[in-house]
Amino acid sequence: MLGWNLDLGLDVGSCSTRIYHRGVGIVLDEPSAIAFSPTGQEVLAVGAEAKLMADQSSREVRVVFPVRGGVVADHQAAARMIRELVRRALGRRTLFMPRFVAALTTGATSVEQAALLSAVQSAGARRVRLVDKTLAGGIGGGLAPTERAARLVVSIGGNVTEFGVVSRGRLVWGRNVRFGGRDLDEAIRKMMLNRYGVTLAPATAEQMKLQVGAVLPQMARSRVLVGGREVYGELFRNLQITLDGIPDLLGRAISPIINEIHWSIAEAPTEQRVEIKATGVLLLGGTALLQGVPQVMRERLGVPVVRAREPAHACALGLGMVLQDPSKLSRDGRRYGGPV
Ligand SMILES: Nc1ncnc2c1ncn2[C@@H]1O[C@H](COP(=O)(O)OP(=O)(O)OP(=O)(O)O)[C@@H](O)[C@H]1O
Ligand SMILES: [Mg+2]
Repeated sequence: MLGWNLDLGLDVGSCSTRIYHRGVGIVLDEPSAIAFSPTGQEVLAVGAEAKLMADQSSREVRVVFPVRGGVVADHQAAARMIRELVRRALGRRTLFMPRFVAALTTGATSVEQAALLSAVQSAGARRVRLVDKTLAGGIGGGLAPTERAARLVVSIGGNVTEFGVVSRGRLVWGRNVRFGGRDLDEAIRKMMLNRYGVTLAPATAEQMKLQVGAVLPQMARSRVLVGGREVYGELFRNLQITLDGIPDLLGRAISPIINEIHWSIAEAPTEQRVEIKATGVLLLGGTALLQGVPQVMRERLGVPVVRAREPAHACALGLGMVLQDPSKLSRDGRRYGGPV
């Protein structure tokens, strides 16, 4: 059965893909990964299962992360991954050529825009509309399309951070930088190598970051690396000490983003710049879940900084709102509702 309530919102990130099923909600949140057989084109796994295979680094599989820096980097793998993930999300309700609203990285070039469009079409979409990611994230994160005063929406993802000035349901200005949560993991790896001569797997460094969970020491969730014993053997004792220093390390590592916010406010169009100084920043993306990030930013920038209620899902939730009334979406995907 094909109907309006069968349309889908698609947020294909560098780390995770989220799918919103109109009238149902977020029906899938899985790593953006696909595993192929080493020689042929046979798909062995997608999502979490494929990511696990990458961590195990077996020669029997070739794992691809087709989205990098928020951009489709491997067209064929992206198309197959999207197709498989949609199938999984819908289960037995699998649609014949569904209609998509897909989120496009803020500040993407026309080539990057074409790459996303083409990958979603190749995945079997009947129709694809694109929506700017910080606009969708802003709406999903609580910005009303009618809100007059401009806000700077900042989405800190895996390896891209996007900046969008949103006013009255319209993206006025936007850009992105290739920096995100993975760079924080990298800072942990570098510290472990310098201090203990240990080379951590990227996934282990990410795990340490998630366990600490904060950029301010007093907000740290844990001081001990749970389950680290097998990985580090005798180094486990040292690691207990190391975790104590990690919030400060993360606080320093996140500095480039704070500088970029400062720069984005300075570069925003004059009228909105004045408004942003009063309204401030709305924070989205998985990395915004680190405790203390809004506080550190507020202190350094001197403007209000608020974290969206569900920072990692804000974009997908915004896509869900767009699906409710796609006619409000402008052709270029940079305006939704608001005064005409
Ligand atoms: N609770 C958490 N605390 C700290 N960091 C987190 C948390 N949850 C996720 N992250 C980090 O957020 C990043 C992923 O963010 P997000 O899911 O927004 O990225 P994405 O949308 O897949 O990718 P992108 O937007 O960069 O293309 C990862 O680096 C991950 O480690
Ligand atoms: Mg994202």
